[in-house]
Amino acid sequence: MLVFAHRGASGHEPENTLLAIKRALAMQVDAIEIDVHLLADGELIVTHDRWLKSQLKPLKRIRDLTLAQIKLIDVGKGQAAPTLNEVLECINGECLVNIELKAERTVIPMMKVMDEAIARWNFQPSQFLFSSFNHHLLFELKTLNSHLNTGALTASCPLDYASFAQRLNAYSVHIDIDFVNQDFVDDAHRRGLKVFVYTVDNEEDIVEMHHLGVDGIFSNYPTRSLIKVAHL
Ligand code: G3P
Ligand code: CA
Repeated sequence: MLVFAHRGASGHEPENTLLAIKRALAMQVDAIEIDVHLLADGELIVTHDRWLKSQLKPLKRIRDLTLAQIKLIDVGKGQAAPTLNEVLECINGECLVNIELKAERTVIPMMKVMDEAIARWNFQPSQFLFSSFNHHLLFELKTLNSHLNTGALTASCPLDYASFAQRLNAYSVHIDIDFVNQDFVDDAHRRGLKVFVYTVDNEEDIVEMHHLGVDGIFSNYPTRSLIKVAHL
């Protein structure tokens, strides 16, 4: 099973920050998952919520902020939210990258940032996996570039989900651990889809995922010992 550091090594450092990314790289994870939003001036920023997680009150809505404004806000341990570009520069092809698109209108700027990263740093196109709960975005991505790998996210277990993901021409289905079961995994595999499960932080759950035969897990604590168990 692949181990994805969820929002970077977010159990150890503030999520989606360069500290969390660097910690995940030091742990030699297979992949790093990050969340991407669009700022008011068109920059892509790595953060999870619509409203920025910070001590600042009132909270700021991401899409209303410019890059200059968001860079002044501490999201933990003195860190500002990084741009997608900064995160990719930091990863520099050392592992796979799963970019989760959290907002509308992110597809075109994201493809531009990815192309620049491939040109400037040590990435291969196959090291990118794009996921979203918004399946329209995944459809848009595949229409623009059918070679890109997409992952269809679900927070539940809809009927015929694997069949739906197959029609989307997705690479993988990403499902909450509370909903994954043997039928789901088998159906996805029959249709040539990988199954990645979030969020898996302890050994008992990893062993259960092994028995189900899933292809990867997202973890907030991707320690060496967790990676060792996952790779068994
Ligand atoms: O990509 C897996 C997982 O990150 C999806 O849920 O809310 O943590 O972004 P969320
Ligand atoms: Ca995510």
